Amino acid sequence: MRVLVVGGGGREHAIVWKMRQSRLVSDLFCLPGNPGIAKEARVVPGRPDDVKSIADFAERERIDLTVVGPEAPLVAGLANELQDRGLLVFGPTRESAEIEGSKVFSKEFMSRYGIPTAGFKVFDDYQEALAFVRSADRPLVVKADGLAAGKGVVVAKTVDEAVRALEDIMFHQVYGKAGSRVVIEECLQGEEVSVLAITDGKNVIQLASAQDHKRAYDNDEGPNTGGMGAYSPAPIYTPELAEKIQREVLIPTVKGMAREGRPYRGVLYAGLMITRDGPMVLEFNCRFGDPETQAILPRMKSDLVDIMQAAAVGDLANRTLEWRDEAAVCVVMASGGYPGAYRPGLPITGLEDAARLKDVVVFHAGTGLRDGAMVTVGGRVLGVTALGAGVREAAGLAYHAVDLIKFEGAHFRRDIARRAFA
Ligand code: AMP
Ligand code: GLY
Repeated sequence: MRVLVVGGGGREHAIVWKMRQSRLVSDLFCLPGNPGIAKEARVVPGRPDDVKSIADFAERERIDLTVVGPEAPLVAGLANELQDRGLLVFGPTRESAEIEGSKVFSKEFMSRYGIPTAGFKVFDDYQEALAFVRSADRPLVVKADGLAAGKGVVVAKTVDEAVRALEDIMFHQVYGKAGSRVVIEECLQGEEVSVLAITDGKNVIQLASAQDHKRAYDNDEGPNTGGMGAYSPAPIYTPELAEKIQREVLIPTVKGMAREGRPYRGVLYAGLMITRDGPMVLEFNCRFGDPETQAILPRMKSDLVDIMQAAAVGDLANRTLEWRDEAAVCVVMASGGYPGAYRPGLPITGLEDAARLKDVVVFHAGTGLRDGAMVTVGGRVLGVTALGAGVREAAGLAYHAVDLIKFEGAHFRRDIARRAFA
């Protein structure tokens, strides 16, 4: 098969790396990819959200399966465009991707089907939203309706914080049109876990569990980021919990989407808070999580391309996935200053030494080449991933590899996965 992966971050590197092990793949392309991905696939220049050009490429190159990593192209209708041209795609259509693309749609959808989630209200009027948060005497969470690169959510402990969030999102429109409506919801307490599942619109197969670390600094302090590390499996995610989430969240979601004429094919990602009253959905994503995927895929024994193709053609019935017993830990090395401003173009050393370690793989996220040398170009630069007998061993090995890699101002958390073994 000729396979195209769309995207160029750590998630896409993990997908491409895993696909390379598939006997089904003859040619592997990645658009736009990155220098790490270029070692495993042919990288193709382009913009992931340039839907027409990507479909042109897939048509011209007779691609048998296109796999879309990030949410923006899905929300922009890349899967629709490919399907309209008779091409096979793994990833939901624009209509189905709305489950991530609009928080208002997603919350209202959950209430229609009784899927457990925090109580909420929707506002499209700034003054009314202000009046609501001013009259509240409890912590609230303010969310921009549309896509905001993971930054449109503010957990406001005080009224002032909530007011400031509304000013930014609705008044100053720092996320553009994404902030013309907001969801304001109850603040939930508990432990978070990410559940990713592959679905063909009827059948739902969960992937191994994973836990992300969203805050920038150790002990979950500092601002929210795209994710500073992840581990798999998450001990909190027991088989009983998996069964409950299958029954109360994943199956009703896939059935509800089908019923509303938005049959969902691809990855359905549920961000959950495990509260005293049971699991509640914080958000849905229409794609693989990043960095979770970097910790999950190294544990997968099954053929990823095979399962994606089956999902894309609607043939997941009676399928299962096999996993290695080892745990995996991914430590993100970010540019100094991330998630705020940072200086790009800094040389990276030690990559070969780290890659030589057994059971270590270094996924590239924000790297580039300058005069043949590897340099930083993004906020999240590398996902240093290791397998080990348990989470503790995997974390030890991942940090050993991290210590071999250097770039000026490198910032990473020292406590990834510690929660799972402390
Ligand atoms: P989201 O993009 O909706 O997942 O939100 C980003 C992060 O904000 C989540 O991973 C949680 O840490 C936090 N969050 C979102 N909604 C809530 C909520 N209702 N209660 C507490 N924390 C939340
Ligand atoms: N790691 C969070 C996400 O992919 O949305």
